[in-house]
Amino acid sequence: MKILITGGAGFIGANCATYFANKGHKVVLFDNLSRIGSDKNLQWIKNVCSVEFVKGDVRKFEDLIDLVTQKGPFDLILHMAAQVAVTTSVVNPREDFEINALGTFNLLEAIRKYDPETTLIYASTNNRKRWSIYLPGPA
Ligand SMILES: NC(=O)c1ccc[n+]([C@@H]2O[C@H](COP(=O)([O-])OP(=O)(O)OC[C@H]3O[C@@H](n4cnc5c(N)ncnc54)[C@H](O)[C@@H]3O)[C@@H](O)[C@H]2O)c1
Repeated sequence: MKILITGGAGFIGANCATYFANKGHKVVLFDNLSRIGSDKNLQWIKNVCSVEFVKGDVRKFEDLIDLVTQKGPFDLILHMAAQVAVTTSVVNPREDFEINALGTFNLLEAIRKYDPETTLIYASTNNRKRWSIYLPGPA
């Protein structure tokens, strides 16, 4: 299969990348390397398997259009690019929104237009605790 992993130099993305690449799948990683340590993750990935890396930002729709039209079509997309820190989302909610919400919309729109047959797996959020304060507590 041809697999795209956004946020492919992150914690989950890096592990998925090596898992699939070492099983013989063609893996394309897309990441802006904004996360501290993601450059080291990418180096580690390149040391243990063969992948293609594209540097880009999910906030930029044109980056995703280029990615999908030039590197696709993909059989599978794992969408792991995200701003994951709750603390950062409180300090800078606009940036959080632009990466997590707009970035996901941009990816969906790019594949709706140019790769509609692909399968997308979205990791969603690990910010459940933040939202739980708005939910009713246990009875
Ligand atoms: N790690 C967990 O335990 C866990 C649990 C539940 C859900 N998740 C979700 O899984 C996803 C990935 O989590 P992770 O732990 O691998 O996070 P991570 O921070 O290690 O990886 C995210 C990657 O996205 C990249 N990125 C950030 N902004 C970007 C942008 N604008 N454009 C392109 N790339 C960008 C970062 O450089 C980084 O490499 C997130 O949605 C997270 O909420 C993670």
